[in-house]
Amino acid sequence: MRSFKEIKKHYDFTEGDEVRLSSISGVMSENVDEAMDALDSWILGTKETARFFADEGRRTRVFGAHRKWFLDLFCGKYDQQYYERLIRIGQTHVRVSVEAHYMNRAINILRSCCIDILNRSVEDPEERTRMLISVEKILDINLDIITSSYIEEELRTYSKAYRVKNALVTFSEGFSQTMNLVLVIALIGLTLGVVGLFVFDVHKLVTGNLEHGIITALGSMLILWVMIELMNTEIAHLKGGKFHISVFVGVALVTIIRETMIATLKKESPETIYYLIAAILVIGVVYWLVTRTEERNR
Ligand code: HEM
Repeated sequence: MRSFKEIKKHYDFTEGDEVRLSSISGVMSENVDEAMDALDSWILGTKETARFFADEGRRTRVFGAHRKWFLDLFCGKYDQQYYERLIRIGQTHVRVSVEAHYMNRAINILRSCCIDILNRSVEDPEERTRMLISVEKILDINLDIITSSYIEEELRTYSKAYRVKNALVTFSEGFSQTMNLVLVIALIGLTLGVVGLFVFDVHKLVTGNLEHGIITALGSMLILWVMIELMNTEIAHLKGGKFHISVFVGVALVTIIRETMIATLKKESPETIYYLIAAILVIGVVYWLVTRTEERNR
């Protein structure tokens, strides 16, 4: 919150303004009923503001407070106490949920009343203009300080929501990092498993049927190659790169190709082979479509 001195300086509110405002306090006191009638009848005639005053006791008390505030505008002494009073007024309205929009409208009504009163009461046009400028300044200063309570309240609410949002984002980020770690560990484990499978197939190649051994070893090598590709994709993703779904489709494709090779060697029934070939065809088309799209988006 700015200091009162700073606010007055920004509005170029001088001792001259203080003197001028104090000099019209008599005129304003004489016409206070007119100003308050305009404000009160607007408040009571507007559904959204009238609802605050269903209770008569409250109406009398608050309208009395409004009147006192209006007369204080022309007191001529705008010190720290005056400033603190305005801050309290802002806080009170925020607390009872009177929207800032109605405060702006209330000042607008009172501004028009003051202009009317001065036009009637001050004959010299130059003097009247100076008085009007001083009245405009004090009304704007009041509105500025009163509505700053609304801004502060909004900031507090916003920062509360911001804190919750921030905590959620931090938690999700941490969770995502942990899951990435789990994924990397799982990929390393699986790749080691595929290496084991490859070694096992090579062993079979040396000790058993050569043809069978070569084909199964080739199949596991294919899977190992795709696993490496999968790890590279994950590393690129961790470095902030795009996620390539084609690698996963590739894994499925290579696995089915390996299955088909083994099924052929095992002399499985033709239906099984046909199913596998159909699966290769379908996944192959999907793979082609996905890689094409990824390349286009690159
Ligand atoms: C020029 C703008 C206004 C000024 C300067 C002003 C001033 C004040 C003051 C001095 C008080 C007493 C504060 C206190 O007891 O601490 C008050 C209370 C109140 N004002 Fe205003 N007011 C303004 C506009 C409005 C408007 C447009 C409404 C419309 C609903 C309104 C509704 C209220 C209510 C409901 C309270 C009572 C709060 C309570 O019960 O404690 N005011 N106002």
